Amino acid sequence: MSNSHLNQLLEIAKLESINYLEGCDKLPVFPSDDALKLLQQFNEKLPTAPNNPLETLKKLADIGSQTTVKHGGSRYFGFVNGGILPIGIAARWLADTWDQNSALGVMSPISAKLEEVCEQWLIQLLHLPPTSKMGLVGGTSVATLCGLAAARNYQYKKLNWDVNERGLMGAPSLRIIMGDQTHGTVAKMVKLLGFGSQSIELVATDDQGRIMVDCLPDMDESCILILQAGNVCSGSFDDFSALCTIADQSGAWTHIDGAFGLWAEASAQLKHLTVGMELADSWSVDGHKTLNTPYDCGVILCKHPDAITEALHQQGSYIEYSKTRDNMVYTPDMSRRARGIDLWACMHHLGEQGIATLMNKLHDGAKYLAKHLSSIGYVVLNDIHFNQVIVHAGSEELTRQVLKRLQSSGIIWCGSATWKGQFIIRLSVCSWQTNENDLAKAV
Ligand SMILES: Cc1ncc(COP(=O)(O)O)c(C=O)c1O
Repeated sequence: MSNSHLNQLLEIAKLESINYLEGCDKLPVFPSDDALKLLQQFNEKLPTAPNNPLETLKKLADIGSQTTVKHGGSRYFGFVNGGILPIGIAARWLADTWDQNSALGVMSPISAKLEEVCEQWLIQLLHLPPTSKMGLVGGTSVATLCGLAAARNYQYKKLNWDVNERGLMGAPSLRIIMGDQTHGTVAKMVKLLGFGSQSIELVATDDQGRIMVDCLPDMDESCILILQAGNVCSGSFDDFSALCTIADQSGAWTHIDGAFGLWAEASAQLKHLTVGMELADSWSVDGHKTLNTPYDCGVILCKHPDAITEALHQQGSYIEYSKTRDNMVYTPDMSRRARGIDLWACMHHLGEQGIATLMNKLHDGAKYLAKHLSSIGYVVLNDIHFNQVIVHAGSEELTRQVLKRLQSSGIIWCGSATWKGQFIIRLSVCSWQTNENDLAKAV
């Protein structure tokens, strides 16, 4: 491709991106049925001959920009999806242009360096033990897998069982202990690690979804305790001080799933939620949720460097380890994009104060929604711990009708769940862009 064609191609991508971002809030938050029909145009055979890349890009931009869900906009309250900071977009563009494989230091010194820096910054920001190691994966699901893999190896070692060598056949049982409102990805990862669901012991939770400390079973060195910083519906946090202390004294490993909530530790206004979290052994969190980095930014942090590397380390005669950092020893994958570049850029841009301000803003947004929704007759079912609001409209039928109209309105989008047996509407305030006008419109 000539330089002028390259220039044209990237220029179009840039213009399309800017137009999209500038017009995002004027487009429906969820594409209309008519717009979705455009997706049919992708139903074509794999081209036999090459296409001009400009044509390919044009087709993508024309159809794609009309059929996206506006996660990056200011009135998307669905799931816990997070917005995207402009610096994150720009840094990711650059990182993709650089085409770095961040597996090894020798493959990408900049990626190794920036992950090392992010690791230190996260330890500082989240007040974690200084020995902690960080791995960057696709999301919290996989980060939790890494934490639990480290836990498995570590606990088995204490039971004189080398799981790397002997596997799980004939191994002593491990007990996995978690609240009955734990996120579904955790049980999935437990099973992926070879523990059947029979090894899971569910602990009763209170009306906010927090583990009831008194209901915790006796634990010992055969146990892994999984806690939550941010319940996916209510946004509640477990009592880390009490639970981690009990776990620590009994020899259990504690993992905290803090997909979107762990960042509360960065805010003076919210850190009461995370008191004691530093007593855990591992933590999973997403950059791409409340921190608003681009997607594909799951973070595993583990206090025991040997436990995580023994679980995830690999061999190969062609592998050249570097004297500095090799990112892949902390993750299951080898080749991957340089996630640390956009994470670094977002943290560098926001700084400690910016991160705290962002978390406070999300919290304030949720408080606004709860207050105003309740004043017009909705029943708010949760305390506003962080950024989540769960409501119903009286009867289940009315709640479903309201949700249906909201979802097809194009003005906002939010989802649903069943909370303690009741059908509810869930709202998650997750984007740096959501301001009071957006919240007022939502109400
Ligand atoms: C508490 C919790 N854990 C885990 C996950 C899964 O995270 P991811 O989608 O990044 O894998 C979520 C997603 O919302 C979550 O809220």
